[in-house]
Amino acid sequence: MNATSVSASQSASSHDSSDESPEEKVAARQGEACKSQVLLRKPASEDGAEVHRLISRCPPLDENSIYCNLLQATHFADTSVAAELDGQLVGFVSGYLIPARADTLFVWQVAVAEEGRGMGLAGRMIRDILARPHCQQVRYLETTITPDNKASWALFRGLARRLDAGLEESVMFDRERHFKGAHDSEMLLRIGPFDTRAQG
Ligand SMILES: CC(C)(COP(=O)(O)OP(=O)(O)OC[C@H]1O[C@@H](n2cnc3c(N)ncnc32)[C@H](O)[C@@H]1OP(=O)(O)O)[C@@H](O)C(=O)NCCC(=O)NCCS
Repeated sequence: MNATSVSASQSASSHDSSDESPEEKVAARQGEACKSQVLLRKPASEDGAEVHRLISRCPPLDENSIYCNLLQATHFADTSVAAELDGQLVGFVSGYLIPARADTLFVWQVAVAEEGRGMGLAGRMIRDILARPHCQQVRYLETTITPDNKASWALFRGLARRLDAGLEESVMFDRERHFKGAHDSEMLLRIGPFDTRAQG
């Protein structure tokens, strides 16, 4: 199985600060323990239905058909990742290399179950994909975000900082022109260039 167990040494933040209250220190230690048990792996077809369930628990993500999630977990397995905690799916990132631009990873959806949030899991899942041999040629990452999805903006801005890469914003799918008023505009974020070989 292509899997990496996320170890505490991969944690981006330190929880040894003496400014933390005892309760915060306990919560931080619990977070570290939880993180150390999260398994990141390429998805398989058997994950499709669970991915569908996870997405339904992660508003404001659009739900796709189970069939679509099955394709993500099979045809796009090299550019997608599943995060498991105690055998349960707690995170999923779907992505693909843009067909006419193989140097660009498009991140389709990022989902972390509520119980797994705030521990850096989303960022680690994306970096796990970027670190794969399949993404050796990748120099850019693109995704779309609705203007009001604060968590998502923070996630991708943080990722650009971490990759030490530029970030451009533009409208990809417009509320009126593309969605006929039925959905907020989707803003395109383009991060790069960066070198995936430099990623730890
Ligand atoms: C967005 C989401 C994937 C983040 O998952 P997560 O594992 O908690 O994110 P991380 O812990 O990796 O945090 C990444 C960054 O986002 C910030 N962040 C996370 N949740 C946030 C929130 N609700 N509000 C503001 N910032 C937030 C973190 O502080 C961190 O910032 P930093 O890099 O500057 O330290 C998760 O909240 C989710 O599944 N939401 C519902 C679905 C969704 O909106 N998906 C994204 C659209 S594709």
